[in-house]
Amino acid sequence: MRFKGKVVIVTGSGQGIGSSIAKVFAAEGAKVVTNNRKAGTTGGDAATVAAEIKAAGGEATPIFGSVNDYKEAKHIIQATVEKYGRIDVLVNNAAIMVDGPLIKYTEKQIRDIVDVNLTGTIFTCQHVIPYMAKQKYGKIVNISSGAGLAGDQNITAYSATKYGVIGFTEALAAELAYYNINVNAVCPGGVPTRMNFRPGATYDYNYFHRPITGEDIAAACLFLASEEARNITSTWIPVTAGVEKKVPDNKPIFTV
Ligand SMILES: NC(=O)c1ccc[n+]([C@@H]2O[C@H](COP(=O)([O-])OP(=O)(O)OC[C@H]3O[C@@H](n4cnc5c(N)ncnc54)[C@H](O)[C@@H]3O)[C@@H](O)[C@H]2O)c1
Repeated sequence: MRFKGKVVIVTGSGQGIGSSIAKVFAAEGAKVVTNNRKAGTTGGDAATVAAEIKAAGGEATPIFGSVNDYKEAKHIIQATVEKYGRIDVLVNNAAIMVDGPLIKYTEKQIRDIVDVNLTGTIFTCQHVIPYMAKQKYGKIVNISSGAGLAGDQNITAYSATKYGVIGFTEALAAELAYYNINVNAVCPGGVPTRMNFRPGATYDYNYFHRPITGEDIAAACLFLASEEARNITSTWIPVTAGVEKKVPDNKPIFTV
């Protein structure tokens, strides 16, 4: 029970990696806030994940809101403090992906991806700072990506946001160290979730030739949020099974 009594928010935890992170923190004794945009929308259900945590003997509350809406991001933070009295850990996991050559993206797709993945992460961090700074204690873990360490075809805008998350993490860590707040990132490789589901995927582009799991990502988040990592800040852990980047096919992926 490494996180007994700690209050942990995991954004975008209605499904996929976020739900794994929420469940693993809860299994270690944390009171977990699960989140996705709205109850009953696509993208999983934070209420179901919270109910599953409770059924397993843990403590969790779903708090809905879009991280890229300034007021809703503030609501996620404030409602957590109203419910549990403090916030020890914020995991910024919510993100969206647009897959395909940049030439095919709509203006809205480009704006949305930057808005959710980068602006949303900045919003929740800004709103959590007063609470963590007052406590003189806090752990922020931002979920970047292997695509935030090496760019690749078909995920150009996504990759830009994930590099942005790394830059933001480094900068914010410098700003918050005085307040005893650690800010780090985790960079997942290919995890088979709804965001990254490829039927028949072989994962032969990583050293182990096997998929990475949500629990693998959760383990890195728990470490960075733990006291063992108290002197680790402004950095990131790649959970990429050895490679951040596939060798590009060097074949045409669009026609003009
Ligand atoms: N799956 C992978 O291979 C992979 C690889 C590298 C990085 N990542 C990163 O891991 C994280 C989780 O990815 P995943 O594969 O579980 O994705 P997913 O699409 O399965 O889950 C994303 C979750 O975020 C929520 N979400 C989306 N927009 C939101 C918003 N505006 N406000 C609140 N919640 C919102 C969705 O509802 C969903 O619950 C993301 O940051 C993603 O970029 C994933």
